[in-house]
Amino acid sequence: MKPIKKICCIGAGYVGGPTMAVIAKNCPNLEVEVVDINESRIKAWNDTNLDNLPVFEPGLSEILKDVRNKNLTFSTNVEYSIKKSDMIFISVNTPIKKKGMGAGQTSDLRWVESCARQISQSAKGHTIVVEKSTLPVKTAQTIKEILDSPSINNSNEDRTFSVLSNPEFLAEGTAISDLVNPDRVLIGGDDLEAMNALKEIYIKWVPESKIIFTNLWSSELSKLSANAFLAQRISSINSLSAICEVTGAEIGDVSDAVGMDSRIGSKFLKAGPGFGGSCFKKDILNLVYLSRFYGLNEVADFWQETVEINSWQKTRIYKEIVARLFGNLADKKIAILGFAFKENTNDTRESPAIDICKNLLDEGAFLNIHDCKVNEETIDKDLCRKKSSNRKMWACKKDVYSVFEDAHAVILMTEWSIYKTLDWEKILPVVKQPFWVFDTRLIVNPKVIKNLGINLWQLGNGMNQ
Ligand code: UDX
Ligand code: ADP
Repeated sequence: MKPIKKICCIGAGYVGGPTMAVIAKNCPNLEVEVVDINESRIKAWNDTNLDNLPVFEPGLSEILKDVRNKNLTFSTNVEYSIKKSDMIFISVNTPIKKKGMGAGQTSDLRWVESCARQISQSAKGHTIVVEKSTLPVKTAQTIKEILDSPSINNSNEDRTFSVLSNPEFLAEGTAISDLVNPDRVLIGGDDLEAMNALKEIYIKWVPESKIIFTNLWSSELSKLSANAFLAQRISSINSLSAICEVTGAEIGDVSDAVGMDSRIGSKFLKAGPGFGGSCFKKDILNLVYLSRFYGLNEVADFWQETVEINSWQKTRIYKEIVARLFGNLADKKIAILGFAFKENTNDTRESPAIDICKNLLDEGAFLNIHDCKVNEETIDKDLCRKKSSNRKMWACKKDVYSVFEDAHAVILMTEWSIYKTLDWEKILPVVKQPFWVFDTRLIVNPKVIKNLGINLWQLGNGMNQ
């Protein structure tokens, strides 16, 4: 097999952009191109002002300063890029299907399928196609079938394909360090030569012992399973947060004690408003769908519960808020701190803030929303209501202290570090009394709040109910 010189990544999103930046940085001899059909996204990736990148990730702009327009380019010319590349990563969106068979349960594969068709039409010679997006098990088979079907637009008889699965395990907010120091790199496939070609790329910075070869299906299933395990830990700790509240226990102490067991480990045991992000819910639902498809209903029910607890956590937080505000939110202002699904990202996909804010709006509240990186356009899109009778009952504030003006309560939704050091003495004179702090991330110091005579509800803190 000829050495890999040019690689193309279809999809310039949260996965494609950072992943290709790290590959370009570590492989100066490779020409890396990220392509996307979304012109404004590509324009933003090419913006000379690195504050305007479409994805906020700590450490990303520093890498781009080094590699952009050297061995990393961003373009909308998908066809041309496919034609000249030896290896193509598919890194497009795969959200949950909204309509039709499997709606609300399995991934919508229209973007993956269209990529496979584009590759089938434009590729030349031998091309290695790498699945990067999280996909339902057996998607590689679909891609293979499309690639191997005769293409009417491609007269090059000799073109051939190898399909690999190389799932991404990066978490948003820590994507660059996850990519630079991965726990493992998984390469699934049945063509050893192609698998080695991909390994040659990673080995430039990842120790060989961390690069694992499996078959395609194990690789696809491992990604879904890893996310399901992580999400299940969060639902476990969140379910216990409710028990803490009624028994007088403190969830932070319980997490610490449980996590000190080396068999369990301390990571991913922080109680919160429920997991968000583009992967967890989608991946578990894919696992549930797959299990039901094969008649494994008990397995499906087991994983489904992780998602149910996650929804329940959001609903119960909203009910706790309404109950403490005398069951009435009409004509009340509520400050919302944080809209991203976690800190250090501008992504709001599946953010618990969306569901909680929508419920509060339905109760008639007016919301003053602040986030460190999410822009107003995204918030408007996420909260957009179908009922035309609804006035826009929220405002986005740039200054964190301005959300408090005339507010009856504040809800801490995202754990941005500036929210941990708020000057509550400065806030107190501008809010309405009685004022409530609802801390869903356990980031405020209860003593400070209580000493100022402010009411506090803290998730999972049985001493502060
Ligand atoms: C996840 C996986 O971690 C990553 O490996 C995969 O590639 C993509 O999906 P991501 O969704 O970006 O990454 O972020 P993650 O850090 O996993 O957080 C997901 C959600 O869980 C967030 O809403 C976060 O706030 C929540 N969470 C995480 C908790 O509530 N408690 C925790 O202890 C950890
Ligand atoms: P992820 O979090 O998985 O990276 P994103 O939604 O952030 O997902 O990014 C996926 C990107 O893939 C989007 O910018 C979208 O425009 C792009 N995309 C989807 N289908 C195609 C396609 N057929 N060709 C090129 N780009 C595509």
